[in-house]
Amino acid sequence: MTPRLLMAVGTAVIGSLQFGYNTGVINAPQNIIQGFYNETWSSRFSEPIPQSTLTALWSLSVAIFSVGGMFGSFSVSLFVNRFGRKNSMLMANVLAFIAAAFMGFSKLAASYEMLIIGRFIVGLYSGLSTGFVPLYVEEISPTSIRGALGTLHQLGVVIGILMAQIFGMDSLMGNAALWPLLLAFTVLPALLQCILLPLCPESPRYLLINCKEESKARSILVMLRGTDEVSEDMQEMKEESQQMMGEEGDHPRAVPFPPPIFVAIMLQLSQQLSGINAVFYYSTGIFERAGVPLPVYATIGAGVVNTAFTLVSLFVVERVGRRPLHLAGLMGMAVSAVFLTVAMALLDQLKWMSYVSIGAIFSFVAFFEIGPGPIPWFIVAELFSQGPRPAAIAVAGFSNWSANFLVGMSFPYVEQLCGPYVFIIFTVLLLGFFTFTYFKVPETKGRSFDEITAGFRKSAGPGAGKYSAPEEFNTLRGDDPDL
Ligand code: GLC
Repeated sequence: MTPRLLMAVGTAVIGSLQFGYNTGVINAPQNIIQGFYNETWSSRFSEPIPQSTLTALWSLSVAIFSVGGMFGSFSVSLFVNRFGRKNSMLMANVLAFIAAAFMGFSKLAASYEMLIIGRFIVGLYSGLSTGFVPLYVEEISPTSIRGALGTLHQLGVVIGILMAQIFGMDSLMGNAALWPLLLAFTVLPALLQCILLPLCPESPRYLLINCKEESKARSILVMLRGTDEVSEDMQEMKEESQQMMGEEGDHPRAVPFPPPIFVAIMLQLSQQLSGINAVFYYSTGIFERAGVPLPVYATIGAGVVNTAFTLVSLFVVERVGRRPLHLAGLMGMAVSAVFLTVAMALLDQLKWMSYVSIGAIFSFVAFFEIGPGPIPWFIVAELFSQGPRPAAIAVAGFSNWSANFLVGMSFPYVEQLCGPYVFIIFTVLLLGFFTFTYFKVPETKGRSFDEITAGFRKSAGPGAGKYSAPEEFNTLRGDDPDL
C-alpha cells in the first residue's frame, strides 16, 4: 500500500460516499419535507394535499433515485472506454452539481418537481459511480489487496449513509429551515472530488490494454506501487491484453456454465433481494412498529453497526476469501430475519420483544456488511477480463439497481399484506442465494484477472457439465498445475 494508491482509491470512493449519502438522506426528514409538499400544494390549489397524492409523490421522490441509478449504471460502458476511467469520474460530477442545485433551490422556488428531478439526476450520478468506482479501484489495485481495496467502495457507501442519518437529525439539518441545505450538501463531496481527481493517475491497465500506451502505463505503475520492480504486473497485464485479443477473434468459443455474467447478476440480486434497503429506507417505521422508544436513534445505531462491520469485512476479506464471507453473510441474514419475524409476531404478548427486534435488525445489517454488502460490487470486476469488464459491470449494476427499485417501491405494500411475517420472504430468498453461491460462485482471492477468467474458460471445455465452482476455483494458487 503506497500513499499514491491510497490517495487514488480515497478520491474515487468519494463517489461511493455520494451514493450512500443520497440513499440515506430522505429517511429522517420525511415528515418535514412532506410538510413542504403540503404547503406548496395548498398555495397552488388553495386546499390541503390529499393523503393519497402525498403518498404517491413521496414514493416517487424516494424511488426515482433508483430509476436514475438504473439509467446511470447501464451507461457506464459508454463512458469508460471512450473517456477513460478517471475522466469519466470527473465528468459525472456535473450531474452532482446540477442535482444539488435542483434540490437545494426547490424550496425557494416552491417546487417539489425540482426536488424530484434533482433526486433523479443524483440517482444517475450514483448509478455511474457504482460502476466507475469499483472498476477503477480494482484495476489499479495489486492482486493481493484487491478485495480489501474493493471493500472501500462499500465503506464509502456506508459512511455516506451514516453522515446522512446524523446530519438529518432535527437538531442539525433535518428541520424545516435547513432541509434544502441537507440535500444540497452533496455539492461539497463533488467539489472535493473535482479538486483531487486531476492529481490521481489514470488506470494503467486501461492505458496499456485499451490505449496501447505502454510507457505511460509503466510509469504510473511505478508510482502506484512505489517501486521500479513492476515487471510482474506489466507481464500480467500483457497476458490479459493477449487474452482479450483472443476473445475478439472470430473463432466461436464454448460458453461456460453458468456464464460469468449470470453469476455476476445473481450476486447483485443476492445483495438487493436480501431486503437490506427495507431497513435503510424504512427502518424508522419498522422500529416504530416494533415498539422501539426512540426509533431515530435506533436507525442511527443501525448505521453505526453497518459501518463497523464493513470495516470487519475490509480486514478479513483477503484472509478468509470472498466465498466464505458471502456465504456466512447470507446465512446470518436469513437467521436474523427469522428472529425478527418471531419478535414482531410476539410483540403484543411480550413487550421486551422490541429489544429482540432491535438486536435482530442490527445483526441483519452486520451480516450484510460481512459479505453481501461489499462483495458483489467489486467481484463483478474480478470475474471478467479487460474487454467485457465495463459491459459486465453495466449489466450487473443495472440488475442491482432494478432490484433496489423493486424492493424500495413494493416493501410498504407487501408489509401491509404480510404484517409481521414480511421478512420471511427475504429468508426464503436468502437461502436460495446461499445455495447458488455455494455451488456456483468461484473464489477470486489472490488470483489475477487472467487466472480467474481462465478458470471459467476451463469450465467451458470438454466435460464442462461437470463444472462446479468450489472444485474448480477453490484450489489454492499453485495447487493447480494449469495455473
Ligand atoms: C449496498 C447497497 C445499497 C445499500 C447499502 C447499505 O451498497 O448497494 O443499496 O443501501 O449497501 O449499506
